[in-house]
Amino acid sequence: MNVFKGKTAVISGGAEGIGLSIAKALARQGMQLVLADINEESLVEASTELQALGASVLTAKLDVAQPDQWQAVAQQAIDRFGSVHMLVNNAGVGGESGPFEQQGIDGWRWAVDVNLMGVVYGGMAIVPLIKAHGEGGWIINVASMAGHLGLPMGGAYTATKFAVVGLSESWAEEFAGADIHVSVLCPGFVKTRIHESQRNRPKRYTSENMPKSATESQELQIKRYVESGMPVELVGNRVVEAIAAKELYIFTHSEGFREAVQKRFSAIDTAFAGVSSSQCLSETP
Ligand SMILES: NC(=O)c1ccc[n+]([C@@H]2O[C@H](COP(=O)([O-])OP(=O)(O)OC[C@H]3O[C@@H](n4cnc5c(N)ncnc54)[C@H](O)[C@@H]3O)[C@@H](O)[C@H]2O)c1
Repeated sequence: MNVFKGKTAVISGGAEGIGLSIAKALARQGMQLVLADINEESLVEASTELQALGASVLTAKLDVAQPDQWQAVAQQAIDRFGSVHMLVNNAGVGGESGPFEQQGIDGWRWAVDVNLMGVVYGGMAIVPLIKAHGEGGWIINVASMAGHLGLPMGGAYTATKFAVVGLSESWAEEFAGADIHVSVLCPGFVKTRIHESQRNRPKRYTSENMPKSATESQELQIKRYVESGMPVELVGNRVVEAIAAKELYIFTHSEGFREAVQKRFSAIDTAFAGVSSSQCLSETP
């Protein structure tokens, strides 16, 4: 039985990249789509592609960092499709990278507002709609392998993605009673325009004295990693496969990352051993 057919998904940042790949995979499952994105031109192109796959599509301009805009998208979704069963919190930005001392407050705020608060505001607007019909549904939050491994020179991105992994674990337990299945997508490098995120940086996050954070060679390195990443077309199908199997953590890459995560777990485990061998903790105060 196709559990997705005829149901409606709201996808933030759905006009390009991983969001559009997920939208296409959901369209192939017969879902109705609400594509919400900050970039109106890309929305038009994406909608044309999805309609060619036979999907019913509503497009909405949305800056995920603005809770009132999320509420407007929720209302538009109900007006058009009557109910919502799925939220894909995908919109995200690379933020600033570079040495910590050179990263500005505006860059931090931009990353936190989009990558973390955008997910929270999405939940605030859409979870009540999913709960309202009582049939359950799905939430897919897009984090990153940077939500499991700290990236040097990428503190803001790392912090927001770890937060999204934690938030997803919290929601997974909390919403299980409402039959809402929560997943967190944690890709390695995927070939998209994530390294060109500055194109979507609103003016309010730009100060006159903005420091130049990433050096040219760092930018080039990130660009190289992203451009040699996984073809984006694969990611959407992987997400559908994983949510059908009710996976909480959705990984797309294993090589290299799996070992690194195991190393992190082992370091944490060793740190716990320090509690049992601690002299000062065994002393009575
Ligand atoms: N590409 C990768 O290597 C990679 C790896 C791990 C995680 N991710 C995550 O995947 C998600 C999608 O990124 P992508 O790689 O497809 O990048 P992308 O830049 O190709 O696409 C991002 C989409 O989000 C939209 N967007 C940006 N800011 C927005 C805002 N404030 N409000 C609404 N929409 C906004 C953009 O217009 C674009 O359509 C992000 O959360 C990113 O952190 C990407």
